[in-house]
Amino acid sequence: MDVRSISCVYFSPTGTTRRVAESVAAGIGSEGAAVFDCTKRTSRERVQGTFRDEVVILAAPVYYGRVPEPAVDCFTRLTASGTPAVLVAVYGNRAYDDALIELFDIAVARGFIPVAVGAFIGEHSYSTEALPMAPGRPDEEDLKMAREFGAAIRKKLTAIRSPEAVDPVKVPGNRPYIEPEGLHRLRRMRQNASVTPETDATLCTRCNKCIEACPQDAIDRVDVTITGKEECILCCACVKACPVGARRFTEPAFLPLLKKLEELCRERKEPEYYF
Ligand SMILES: Cc1cc2nc3c(=O)[nH]c(=O)nc-3n(C[C@H](O)[C@H](O)[C@H](O)COP(=O)(O)O)c2cc1C
Repeated sequence: MDVRSISCVYFSPTGTTRRVAESVAAGIGSEGAAVFDCTKRTSRERVQGTFRDEVVILAAPVYYGRVPEPAVDCFTRLTASGTPAVLVAVYGNRAYDDALIELFDIAVARGFIPVAVGAFIGEHSYSTEALPMAPGRPDEEDLKMAREFGAAIRKKLTAIRSPEAVDPVKVPGNRPYIEPEGLHRLRRMRQNASVTPETDATLCTRCNKCIEACPQDAIDRVDVTITGKEECILCCACVKACPVGARRFTEPAFLPLLKKLEELCRERKEPEYYF
């Protein structure tokens, strides 16, 4: 089949998923991709579309071993009609657990035909200088692999008559999906504590970059020290966007979890592809 156009739909609060998805798109073709950035709640609500004669990349980070709820919300607004899809999960070097298989199931339910699936590594949203987790990733080597993955997808597609002709992609994961224990633990903790990034008012310069970066509009526009506990999804977009390091987690009950997480993220993982 001809690869006539490429669309790229992603959710990416701290930008690593976006970078990987763009490299995969560049590897598939030089045509350039139509981009649907569904990171912000407002843009998510506007995303709608029926995809037909194109290749669609659906990309999301891994949260608690699964696809983040806002990305599920975005992807389930799409419909397709036998459209080839490339599924990309970007995780913070702990594990992607059932995120790939969940992405696969969402894509199939929307009418896509997954032709290739990849898991890539991005700097962990909770990574800091004191607790580094996959710092600097995706690095040059990761992005080269993402482009090579894209090139292999193009080769696969040009060699077949139609997406229906491809053998189903074998995706690692469990059905039913394993319960996201990390999410449950956090929800319990949040009943008694305000686990959101806090603003250190002595450092904050009121540049409002955190407000602009927040996908959920969770930070008060007048008083940036107020973060909506219900809205905040702990994506760390505000933490990474703050130029002076004024946004950070301070809840004492949360800090030991970050330390434990750092231990789980130490050994470098490499990208994986499935065709
Ligand atoms: C709430 C939350 C949960 C996460 N859960 C996982 C996880 O289960 N496994 C993992 O390896 N990384 C996990 N991460 C890290 C992200 O998957 C990783 O940093 C990713 O690169 C972030 O993508 P983004 O830059 O597009 O926002 C989590 C991050 C957040 C914010």
